[in-house]
Amino acid sequence: MSASSDDPGGPLAALVRDARRGLAARFGSSPRWMAAAPGRVNVIGEHTDYNEGFVLPMAIDKHVVLAAAPAASSEAGDVVEIWSDSLGEAVRLPVQGSAKGSVPHWASYLQGVLAGFLTRGLQVPPFQAVLVSNIPLGGGLSSSAAVEVAMATLLEGVTKTRLDPREKARIARQAEHDYAGVPCGIMDQLASVMGQETGPLLIDCRDESVTPVRLAESVKDATVLLICNSHVKHSLGDGAYARRRAECEEAARLLGARSLRDVSAAQVAAAEAQLGPILTKRARHVVTENERTVATAEALRQGAFERAGQLMYASHRSLRDDYEVSVAEIDLLVELASKVGLAGGVYGSRITGGGFGGCTVSLVKADQVDGIARFLSEGYERGTKRALSAFVARPTAGAHLIDPAEGAP
Ligand code: GLA
Repeated sequence: MSASSDDPGGPLAALVRDARRGLAARFGSSPRWMAAAPGRVNVIGEHTDYNEGFVLPMAIDKHVVLAAAPAASSEAGDVVEIWSDSLGEAVRLPVQGSAKGSVPHWASYLQGVLAGFLTRGLQVPPFQAVLVSNIPLGGGLSSSAAVEVAMATLLEGVTKTRLDPREKARIARQAEHDYAGVPCGIMDQLASVMGQETGPLLIDCRDESVTPVRLAESVKDATVLLICNSHVKHSLGDGAYARRRAECEEAARLLGARSLRDVSAAQVAAAEAQLGPILTKRARHVVTENERTVATAEALRQGAFERAGQLMYASHRSLRDDYEVSVAEIDLLVELASKVGLAGGVYGSRITGGGFGGCTVSLVKADQVDGIARFLSEGYERGTKRALSAFVARPTAGAHLIDPAEGAP
C-alpha cells in the first residue's frame, strides 16, 4: 500500500527508465531531453481557485514523464510526434502555426501547450517523444495538468527557454481551457509546477502567491495523507464543472462583487432571497471553504490535526450538500473513515479534486494507516462491489528537467 515501489530509486526513477526504454523501442533513439511533472492531491480548498480564493494542494510522487530526441529523419516533417505508452497511441503535431487540428483527447493537452509556446514566438524544432505516467486517469489527482506541465517543461528544455513558473502554469491552464474545453482554475498547474518536498502549498489564487506549509518537525512523520481511489471516473469536460463556475460568477455579479473571494458568509445569508436556492448554496460553499482552507493551513502548521480533520469533514459536507459534486461511492468512503474515527487513527476525510467521482484524501496517523486502508477497502468493496486503491501520498518537488543520462543502462 505504500507509495514507494520495489524499484531502486522509487517510482519516479522507474518511470524515467520506462520512458527511456519506450523511446528506444518506438523511435530507436536515446533521450536528449527528459521532463517530469507531478500530480497533486488537494488537502482542502475545492472549487475556490476560479473564485480567486485559497487552495491547499500538495504535489505527490506520481508523475508524467516525457523523454524526447530530435526527429531522426526529415520524413517526420515539421512535426513533433508523441507516443503515449499507456494508451498505445501516437499523435503528430505541426510545429508551424497554432492550428487546432483534431487530435485524440489525451493529446489535446499537449497540443494546447505546444500552441502556447508557438504563439509566444518560440521556435520548436521537430522531435519525437514518449509519454509515460503513473497518475490514475480521471481520479481527481491532476493527471491532465501533469501532462500539460510535463510538456511545458520539456519544451523549455527543447527551446532552451526558462519561463517564469507562474507563466508556465498559465500556459498549461490555457491549454486546458482552449484545447480540452475545461474552464479550470490555476490550482493544479501551479501545484505541479511549484510543488515542494516539504508538504502542501497554501495558494492565494487572486495574486497566485504560494506559501509552503511546513508541519512542525516533531509531528511531521506521525501523520500522513491517505488517498483512496474510488475508481468512479470523473469527467470535468461534460459541462457540470463549467456550470458550477458560471453559477459562482452569477452569484458574485448579483452580490455586486468582483468574485466570491470578496463576499462573506453573512452577505450570502442576507442575500438568499435574491440569489435563490441554488446560487445561495454554491456561494455558501465557496465562502466557507475559503475560511476552512486558511484555517486548515494554520492548524497543520501548529500540528493541530484534530482541528484540521474537522475542517476536512466540514469541507466534504459542503461539497456534498451545497456544491453537489460528490457521488455515493465517495460519500461512503468518507463515512467509513469517520467510523474509524480518532480512536482508530483518522483525523478527517473528504473528496479531493473536481468531484463527480475520483478520490478521497484522509488525514491519518502514520502508524495506523495500514489497518485504516484495509478497513476502508473491505467496507468499500462490500458496499459498492468495486475495488479500492489506497496509497500514502508523499510530497514531492515540482516539475523539472531530468538529466538525459539518468536511468541509462
Ligand atoms: C479541478 C480543476 C481545478 C479546481 C478543482 C476543484 O481539479 O482543474 O482548477 O477548480 O477541480 O477545486
